[in-house]
Amino acid sequence: MSQPVRFGVIGCGLMGREFASVSMRWLHLAADLPRPVIVAACDLNQANRDWFRQVPDTKYFYSDYKEMLANPEVEAVYCAVPHHLHAQVYSDVIRAGKHLLGEKPFGMDLAACETIRQAMAEHPEVFVRCASEFPYYPAVQQMVRWYREGAFGQIIEARFAIKHSSDMDLNKPINWKRMRAANGDYGCMGDLGIHTQHLPFRLGMFPRTVSAQLANLVPTRPNEKGEPVPCETWDNALLLCEAQNDAGDRFPMQLEMKRMAPGCTNTVEYEIYGLKMSAKFSTDDPNAIRYTQAVGREQAWARLVVGQKTLYPTITGSIFEFGFSDSLLQMFAAFVSELRGLDCPFGCFTPDEALRSHQLLTAALESYTQRRVVEL
Ligand SMILES: NC(=O)c1ccc[n+]([C@@H]2O[C@H](COP(=O)([O-])OP(=O)(O)OC[C@H]3O[C@@H](n4cnc5c(N)ncnc54)[C@H](O)[C@@H]3O)[C@@H](O)[C@H]2O)c1
Repeated sequence: MSQPVRFGVIGCGLMGREFASVSMRWLHLAADLPRPVIVAACDLNQANRDWFRQVPDTKYFYSDYKEMLANPEVEAVYCAVPHHLHAQVYSDVIRAGKHLLGEKPFGMDLAACETIRQAMAEHPEVFVRCASEFPYYPAVQQMVRWYREGAFGQIIEARFAIKHSSDMDLNKPINWKRMRAANGDYGCMGDLGIHTQHLPFRLGMFPRTVSAQLANLVPTRPNEKGEPVPCETWDNALLLCEAQNDAGDRFPMQLEMKRMAPGCTNTVEYEIYGLKMSAKFSTDDPNAIRYTQAVGREQAWARLVVGQKTLYPTITGSIFEFGFSDSLLQMFAAFVSELRGLDCPFGCFTPDEALRSHQLLTAALESYTQRRVVEL
């Protein structure tokens, strides 16, 4: 049995709890991988901290994360806190010598990302990655295999999107993700951007230019008392890039990050169009990938049902459907595997990729405010 990785969690909200659930269903993985055991939980909010009392492994509870970092039992940290805290908290985690899986966007802005990378440069022994789970859908991994085999041929165009619609409810109370002070100038791009970038960056598709369209469609939202307060963040972003891949193909690459996309709950769409083959994936049809087959001189769209053929094998039969919480299980399996030097065919988003993401999003802000195409 592999030695577990002893984790502390900073931020016991939405994503902190998802990780707790992953750590408790580790037996779902068929391979013998080091289990993330959450020994410590830290949150300013007592109710969120107390939620972790139902996790059998968790025996230390903190409101001050620095106290948690002083605990020698904590070997690695999963950190899921608001964006304006990333630079300070991630850097403190790294300087305490703890391995880190930080959440996106890995710093509120480019300067924050560089601050975290400075701490990393001082502590090369610490393993650091950023969370991003959607590429772990088996249908997306099929797309990755086709791409790496060269099945697409010359790339014509690519599109990567994530679309929410809960903000279509204008009475939805504001939260930190809609406040510039906690979410930063990127708005929806900081929240959603990495979900559109992990796959293309890993495949070597990099933007050379960006032209951005940003929209703040709802400038006020109710606070907890129902009073209207400013909602200053971008709701929707459309980035049209000229991209280049390792083969030297230059092609339009569209990245869409939308909080106001009618009818979408958390719809992730990945599309790659090539001269030899095209393929598209949507979490609306998570089990399958659509791809073109040549029929003489024409192309026909086919739907291949992929099922549960995961990167890390699970006890679930391959005929069954795959979902969001399964993608998180696969992502954490990738993190602990890479941390322990085990085989990891598709690793988590790297700090170098996070830097590239920040450079792109910073250029997108510049493009929109100056109404011009910005070179990267
Ligand atoms: N990977 C994904 O799919 C995904 C989805 C949602 C959010 N996220 C990311 O996860 C992070 C957190 O988002 P969330 O949705 O879980 O937010 P959340 O608001 O649900 O949780 C954040 C938690 O951090 C706590 N917190 C705030 N300041 C703290 C401090 N100084 N010390 C300890 N705890 C503190 C809050 O009390 C809260 O419980 C963000 O970076 C966000 O972008 C990722």
